Amino acid sequence: MNFSPVIAGCMNWGQWGAKFNTQQYLTAIKECLELGVAWFDHADIYGHYTTEEEFGTALKIEPGLRLNMKLITKCGIKMVTPHRPDHKIKSYDTSSEHIIGSAERSLSNLRTDHIDLLLIHRPDPMMDASEIAEAIDKLKTQGKVLHFGVSNFLPHHMSLLRPVIKVEANQFEFSAFHTTPLLDGTAEYCQQHGIACMAWSPLGGGALTSEEKTDQARRVIAVAELLGEDLGLSIDQVLLAWLFSHPMRIVPVLGTTKTARIRAAVEISKLRLSREQWFMVYRAFLGKEIA
Ligand SMILES: NC(=O)c1ccc[n+]([C@@H]2O[C@H](COP(=O)([O-])OP(=O)(O)OC[C@H]3O[C@@H](n4cnc5c(N)ncnc54)[C@H](OP(=O)(O)O)[C@@H]3O)[C@@H](O)[C@H]2O)c1
Repeated sequence: MNFSPVIAGCMNWGQWGAKFNTQQYLTAIKECLELGVAWFDHADIYGHYTTEEEFGTALKIEPGLRLNMKLITKCGIKMVTPHRPDHKIKSYDTSSEHIIGSAERSLSNLRTDHIDLLLIHRPDPMMDASEIAEAIDKLKTQGKVLHFGVSNFLPHHMSLLRPVIKVEANQFEFSAFHTTPLLDGTAEYCQQHGIACMAWSPLGGGALTSEEKTDQARRVIAVAELLGEDLGLSIDQVLLAWLFSHPMRIVPVLGTTKTARIRAAVEISKLRLSREQWFMVYRAFLGKEIA
């Protein structure tokens, strides 16, 4: 799929974060593209189902920007919100009807004729692999979706789908503050099957600025600061370099709303920590020497 070095996460651009106006969306899009960040990450639900549309409204002003841009969006979660009065409780829906309806609504909101990568947002306990395959095949045949992937899927969830549909990517939470994918088989499974890996909350979702840091977060930040002094990098650059250094070739989905922070991430996207530097950060996460 040829991802850019980092992906611009749009979850915090709208109602759930910075509340960008149309001009701010446009500026943010252009600045990302100028930095070579061509991939933008959405979900139908962001901003309680409003962010895709706000982004699309900005894109309508300069539709030519779409030519150099790749769009990811997700479907499958039904949130309770005044924007969806028919949703009575929070639930998941991976029925063929819901996937197709959600993708078509995303196309219309984003003002585009295709989604570059559509993800099932979370594994659904009522998941029927053949129904998902049927929906994705249809969307792909119509040219509405180019690639298919999943999010927050464990190896056994991906195993269910792979016999009937090509799973090209998995987006999961991964950072020096959340290392579960190194232990639950996700890292190995994705490497084994050539599934592209994207990390959401690559900086712990605000862990750097949180006023109530856990001891673990304090340890990780302290080591990143120490390494940063040696390497001439900021703390966030060290923590991202830690992700880039893993052989699963992770692409971070950055949640920042600040262009300078995206630039800082792009600058070090080719940097790799030595194994000892990588293990220093991991040891800080664990709070003890590895066995
Ligand atoms: N698939 C899923 O289930 C899922 C779930 C959650 C998120 N996502 C995707 O992943 C993206 C990123 O998630 P996230 O927002 O949790 O990630 P994050 O990048 O770990 O956290 C973003 C937060 O950290 C702050 N921040 C970033 N860099 C910083 C720095 N150098 N110093 C201090 N604060 C910094 C940001 O504030 P500023 O804006 O002020 O920089 C923002 O509040 C989302 O936009 C979304 O696209 C996917």
